[in-house]
Parts: sequence; structure tokens; C-alpha cells
Amino acid sequence: MPGALLQVEAVDAYYGRSHVLQGVSLEVGHGAAVALLGRNGAGKSTTLKSIMGIVAAARGRIRFDGAAIERLPPHRVARRGIAYVPEDRGIFASLTVDEHLRLNRARAGRRVPAESLYERFPLLAERRRHRGNELSGGEQQMLAIARALSFAPRLLILDEPTEGLAPIVVERIAAILHTLRAAGMTMLLVEQNYPFAIDLAERVYVLGKGRVRWQGTAADIDRSPDVRSTWLGV
Ligand SMILES: Nc1ncnc2c1ncn2[C@@H]1O[C@H](COP(=O)(O)OP(=O)(O)O)[C@@H](O)[C@H]1O
Ligand SMILES: [Mg+2]
Repeated sequence: MPGALLQVEAVDAYYGRSHVLQGVSLEVGHGAAVALLGRNGAGKSTTLKSIMGIVAAARGRIRFDGAAIERLPPHRVARRGIAYVPEDRGIFASLTVDEHLRLNRARAGRRVPAESLYERFPLLAERRRHRGNELSGGEQQMLAIARALSFAPRLLILDEPTEGLAPIVVERIAAILHTLRAAGMTMLLVEQNYPFAIDLAERVYVLGKGRVRWQGTAADIDRSPDVRSTWLGV
């Protein structure tokens, strides 16, 4: 896919001597929503962390909008326009919703005004004076997504946004992400919730034991029970 917004090419990553990513390649086109699926321990989070510069890519290339980013530290990757919502959400217990959305404004330069984020997330507007530790899991996830969007990213990366959330809250997160997608936001999504993922994404990569084992459209994987049972267990 020439000209894809994100190109991960043959990336290897290690934790100590443990060879966790073994030649992982994937692409996310402009305006596309791509899901990265796989069992626990497959290397999904590590792939996202290598894109963000949190885990070093020992080999391989990562290009964003054509420029190599695999040697950049996380804050510089973020400044290029990649926003990352980590699996643990990264919400500060003692900061209010409002502070989360206004923090680092000076350093980040252009930031979306909190008021326009509150229009998209009315629940957060109601909770703006609440601290992180006073929010439900769903509210924390919404705040993590809102904070990511506050940097006006060109690529939104989400690590298991529905993890641990009640079905009704998962529906709300789905509605938010579908709206973003319709507005043209490019997304790379890691999920264990298979129906949620293939409903949102048009392309799917399946990771198993540190390698890409399958790739194709969401419609294709839905017609491939063997792929799902071998690599996803669903
Ligand atoms: N900080 C770490 N130190 C050592 N090993 C790790 C660390 N994080 C993850 N791993 C191991 O790396 C492999 C891939 O982990 P991860 O990328 O988190 O998988 P996934 O997100 O697909 O569940 C697993 O075997 C996991 O145990
Ligand atoms: Mg993970």
C-alpha cells in the first residue's frame, strides 16, 4: 500500500532476551480503521509500544507519513500526530477531568479546546470537576480517548478500549469510535472483543506468538472460522 499513513516493516522487539516481535509488518491507510487481534501474549501491546517508541524496535522500520520514526522517543512520536490510548488508560487519580484535557497545552502547541471535546463527550462535561479516581471505568476510558483527541492526532491508537467495561458502556465507546471513523479519523485498534473490533475495522491483522499470522478484511475473517479458532480462540 504505497502512501499508507503508518507502515510497520519487519519489526523485531525484545524484552531482555525474550524475542517478542519477530518481523511484524502492517499498514494503516489514510482514513482507515485497522484492527490488530490475537490471543493474550501475542505481542499486540508490544507492537503498539514499538510504534510509540516506548519499546525499542531492534530491527525494522516504522514510517509515519513516509518519515522514519522508529528511533524517536515517545513524546516526539506523539508530536508527529500519533495519539495513544494505553491499555491502563493512564488517567491520573488526583487530576480532574478538566485538568486532563488542559494539561500540557503549552508544550503540545495546538490543542483542541476542552469545550469542543465536551460537546463530543457530554458525560465528561458533567464530570469536569471530578478527579480521576472518582470516575467509573467507562468514564476513564472516555476521558482517555478525549485526551488523545485533544492533541488533534492524525492517527489514533487504542489498546483494548473495551476491556473490563459493561456491555452498555462498550456500546457507548463503540458509538464514539464509529462517529470518529465516519469523520475520517485513522485508527489502529487492539481488541479482545472480536465483534466490536470487526464491526469498527475494515482491515484486520492477526498476531500469534510475535508474528502476523493472517491479514485480510473484516468480512474475510468473519467467514474464516479456522483462522479465528486457531489464532483467536473465538
Ligand atoms: N515488560 C515486559 N517484560 C517482559 N516481558 C513482557 C513485558 N511485557 C510483555 N511481555 C511479554 O511479551 C509478550 C507479548 O506481550 P504483549 O505485547 O503485552 O501481548 P498482548 O498485548 O498481545 O497480550 C508476552 O509473552 C508477555 O508476557
Ligand atoms: Mg495487550
